[in-house]
Amino acid sequence: MQHSRFPLTAVTQSRLGQVDFDNPGFGKIFGDHMFSMVYEDGAWSKAEIIPYQALAIEPGVAMLHYGQTVFDGYKAFRGEDGQARIFRPERNAARLHDSCQRLCIPIMPVDELTDIMIQATRELIELDHAWIPSQWGHSLYVRPLVIGTESTLEVRAANRYHFLIMTSPVGSYFTDLQNGVSLRVEDRFTRAASIGGLGAAKTAANYAASLLPGAQSKAQGFDQVLWLDSNEHRYVEEVGAMNIFFKIAGRVITPPLGGSILPGVVRDSALTLLRDWDIPVEERRLGIDEVIEAFASGELEEVFGAGTAAVICPVASIGYRDELYSIASAPPGELTLRLYNELTGIQYGKIEDRHHWNQCVTLPE
Ligand SMILES: Cc1ncc(COP(=O)(O)O)c(C=O)c1O
Repeated sequence: MQHSRFPLTAVTQSRLGQVDFDNPGFGKIFGDHMFSMVYEDGAWSKAEIIPYQALAIEPGVAMLHYGQTVFDGYKAFRGEDGQARIFRPERNAARLHDSCQRLCIPIMPVDELTDIMIQATRELIELDHAWIPSQWGHSLYVRPLVIGTESTLEVRAANRYHFLIMTSPVGSYFTDLQNGVSLRVEDRFTRAASIGGLGAAKTAANYAASLLPGAQSKAQGFDQVLWLDSNEHRYVEEVGAMNIFFKIAGRVITPPLGGSILPGVVRDSALTLLRDWDIPVEERRLGIDEVIEAFASGELEEVFGAGTAAVICPVASIGYRDELYSIASAPPGELTLRLYNELTGIQYGKIEDRHHWNQCVTLPE
């Protein structure tokens, strides 16, 4: 084991036996250990690794009332070569930093946060290495979380916080590649404000806003919501847990990062791979009317989502108003499959990691 930086209190009894590795679901059970750090009296301290456990929180904690909570998510993959690969965690650290700033959480400088997050993840992975699934498509999801823990009902930033990193063995979030997902275009509710809102932060409020439209979509037989901009309900934004891409007449179009959508790590990775392959990409506003026109003219070739949980996920159909549009080449389209294979190949160590995305951890025998 590499030199560990954080004091460790180990579990006396592992819960590993409770994991159904054939069918782990998503975030149903958490690894034996978690990283914990506290902010109080104006400083972050008490970094340690402790057993995963319930938190003692007073009901008056402002976070429970006013939502001062941010999180992120990335994955570690078990390679056949005995290495675990953590995919681009520095990107998640930078995003967690930005989310904290937006939620007025006094986070440490980004370099320090990145260093702590990556080191803590490495130590958790070494310690709980048996929790990393070995089945293709399965992985260990890593969830950092920062919450305000001061008990006060005043509406202001808390002066006490808890920073936790937990892990969870997961399978595929949505579906297998052969089925693809169905999306319902939401033209009544909004996920996040187009200008000046919280959309780019990974914070509870955005997910809270998505629950009712999400449940309504499910009730109508759809898997997820496809969000439109909040001003006109015209321009495509993103999906519940993934960014969205449309291949229209040979060009791949995805909405730009304008502050209303999450700057996805897999979105960035997909764009990089597409550019590597000289496939024309456009980061631009795309009206749902343009998507429907492309469908009508036969130019809508593929639609796919990109996200840590969703990986690269083919979209089989889109419901808009009273029509259902079935995507011609789904599922999965040729490019969707190529991206899926390349990305997962890099993540599991089967394909050369040309962009140095993986952080490798040698697992104990
Ligand atoms: C709302 C939303 N959009 C996009 C994404 C994709 O982001 P990433 O690729 O960093 O996982 C996620 C998932 O984390 C998400 O929750």
